[in-house]
Amino acid sequence: MPLSLPISDLTHSANPLLSAPDVLLAKGRVLESLVREIASTEILPRYLKVSRGRKADGSLFTEADLATQKRLVEVLPTLLFGAVLGEEMSEESQARLWGAGRGGLWCIDPIDGTTNFINGIPFFSVSIAWLVDYEPRLGLVYNPISGECFLAAKGAGAYLNNEPLPLRRTTRRLRDAVAGFDLKRVSPHLGDELVARPPYMSQRHFGSSALEWCFLAAGRFDVYMHVGQMLWDYAAGQLILAEAGGLACPMDGGTAQLAGPAVKRSVIAAGNPLLFAEWRTWLQSHS
Ligand code: IPD
Ligand code: CA
Ligand code: CA
Repeated sequence: MPLSLPISDLTHSANPLLSAPDVLLAKGRVLESLVREIASTEILPRYLKVSRGRKADGSLFTEADLATQKRLVEVLPTLLFGAVLGEEMSEESQARLWGAGRGGLWCIDPIDGTTNFINGIPFFSVSIAWLVDYEPRLGLVYNPISGECFLAAKGAGAYLNNEPLPLRRTTRRLRDAVAGFDLKRVSPHLGDELVARPPYMSQRHFGSSALEWCFLAAGRFDVYMHVGQMLWDYAAGQLILAEAGGLACPMDGGTAQLAGPAVKRSVIAAGNPLLFAEWRTWLQSHS
């Protein structure tokens, strides 16, 4: 039985065992323990204790983002084949790692929701995806404050702390839906429509894209939307949602293929096919 092999024997992307869903999921469980340990030593002790820095693009980072990324860069390649592409790396490094990463690549956001982390709002996460052929095979999103760890392996389902997702059946009608989205970067016309004539029952926005994908996967949201995410914001969450039975596509209706590290991608998503069709039609006709 493949699961009885030591984890260290399974480190090359060409290893056929790695396409076995249960083997991948076993890797994911090891990853979960590692991430819980790293977050408890690199993130939690710095919560509300570190000052913020600003990157060239105006976004925020802290010493906790850098320290977490550093630990993950060291440890992830020992778990599965592939270098680590992180949000806090230079654009040149990200482009080089992406270009060389077809056979296996880790893609990480060491802290997703840095503004929340800095302001003491207990909603942020570590987001990690392992890709082969630029498709997510493993996805993990961990909130160190709540202890909730969302994990999915391709073909093996999605889980919240070992509980299979979704936890709740999503509604079938848009007018009964709880929607998760941020009005930031939404076009003025679409923003006005969403505010003046909301097609859903209620709306929430929490400030960590990776966790928001997982809330949809769990059935806490019924529909979701974001107009500009980076690879590390969605790579793990997208797999977790798909493995939980949800659907997603970009606003323009193209495929949910991963874009490279320099490209912002929009998303429309829902927990079930009927709702997805209604949400997508509404958004596309009001954009
Ligand atoms: C941000 C969060 C936020 C989203 C932004 C992202 P960061 O990531 O995911 O929810 O709306 O677009 O940049 O900067 O906190 O890693
Ligand atoms: Ca992010
Ligand atoms: Ca980040």
